[in-house]
Amino acid sequence: MSTLFKQHIRHQIKRLEEILSEHSLDGLVLGAGTPFVYFRDDQEAPFHPNPYFTHWCPERSPHHFLHLRAGQKPKLVFYTPKDYWYEQPSVEGIDWVDEFEVIQTDNLEARWTLLGETKRHVFIGSEEKEAKEKGFVANADKVLAHLDWFRAEKTSYEIDCIEKANENAAIGHKAARKMFKKGANELEVHLAFLEAVQCSEYELPYPSIVGMNEKSATLHYQKKRTGVKKADVMLIDCGARVRGYASDITRTYVRKKTPRIFRNLLGTMDALQKSLCKQVRPGVSYFDLQVKTHRAIAEILLDAGVLKGCDVDLAFEKELTNVFYPHGLGHMLGIQVHDVGGFQKDHTGADDEQSPKFPKLRMRRALRVNEVVTVEPGLYFMPLRLEGLKGDDDLRKYVKWSLIDELVPLGGIRIEDNVVVTNSGYRNLTRPYLKSDYLV
Ligand code: GLY
Ligand code: MN
Ligand code: MN
Repeated sequence: MSTLFKQHIRHQIKRLEEILSEHSLDGLVLGAGTPFVYFRDDQEAPFHPNPYFTHWCPERSPHHFLHLRAGQKPKLVFYTPKDYWYEQPSVEGIDWVDEFEVIQTDNLEARWTLLGETKRHVFIGSEEKEAKEKGFVANADKVLAHLDWFRAEKTSYEIDCIEKANENAAIGHKAARKMFKKGANELEVHLAFLEAVQCSEYELPYPSIVGMNEKSATLHYQKKRTGVKKADVMLIDCGARVRGYASDITRTYVRKKTPRIFRNLLGTMDALQKSLCKQVRPGVSYFDLQVKTHRAIAEILLDAGVLKGCDVDLAFEKELTNVFYPHGLGHMLGIQVHDVGGFQKDHTGADDEQSPKFPKLRMRRALRVNEVVTVEPGLYFMPLRLEGLKGDDDLRKYVKWSLIDELVPLGGIRIEDNVVVTNSGYRNLTRPYLKSDYLV
């Protein structure tokens, strides 16, 4: 890991030099961030460091600064107050610390002077107001776009972190599957995942989604019900974090007693997900893959008899599949679960045209080598979406409503893997650790 981290920092320094030269700057200062304090309270929300800071430094506590200049070792102004209420961060015995010149301080104000010379610098971080008062230009759009463009393309170190986050989350997913098989409820499954991954809820890269039966159709379902046991369906969307990098994995499970139509739909969605992963390679447009997914889902719904009186072309043209699959095929993955860079054409931040057809698609352009994306087709029977279709005089005839009545209580299906684009195609970072054996 430390060799990979050294290489990562070397690569980051090259990127930094390119950014400083293009934007006529002498340096950047990255702030780790300040915790959010609840209104009229002395409690803080769980802290997430500034992702631009994490791109360089794995430390996850607040208030540190990183000073980056061409040709100089990155300087870490490390804030560690003398405080006996809370455990304070320390750099003792940490493997990554050699890559930085570390200056420690217990004084928030002193951090600014300890940076040294900061003329022609841009500050990046949430401490924007203070930075401007100190004379910095803060969070310049062009610089952020350039940083995002680089963040989209992962180094070997970052891919290794994401792969390890997959390996760890897979242990949690296996424990969750076992609990579902035993008939456990949503809360029990969530707790089994945490125990297997050996982390607290706050350390997850995103709030876990454990939806049983009809709740598997709520895309970002957050409750953990205790009353629903031995459910027919469970959708679990949970990841883990390694050195600030996330995995984002979804599986859907059914039992032998689950109605056959739903079991068959799950089987075909799993086959579709695998075939979409295989199509990932450099130059492939994610927008085109989204179109292919919609067409494949139209075919699946026609074969199952859910759609009728139309063909794939008409179902696609009339946007019938948008009702059953209302999200995008995937997104960039990295420090943030919905990572940056998917909407950019190049380092200047120029955006692709947003498609009115797929407003929720977070990734539209052609893929580049070393980008990590999720592949997560879904199929849901959501009352909210179906009501609109039923009320549409032109479209309602294309749906077999008696089947919808059977399917709504079973919810939905999503299968999600993380894949990295390689020179020759793709590498699936999830499947080596977690199959999709969906029948328990
Ligand atoms: N876990 C959120 C997503 O899959 O995008
Ligand atoms: Mn995802
Ligand atoms: Mn997910």
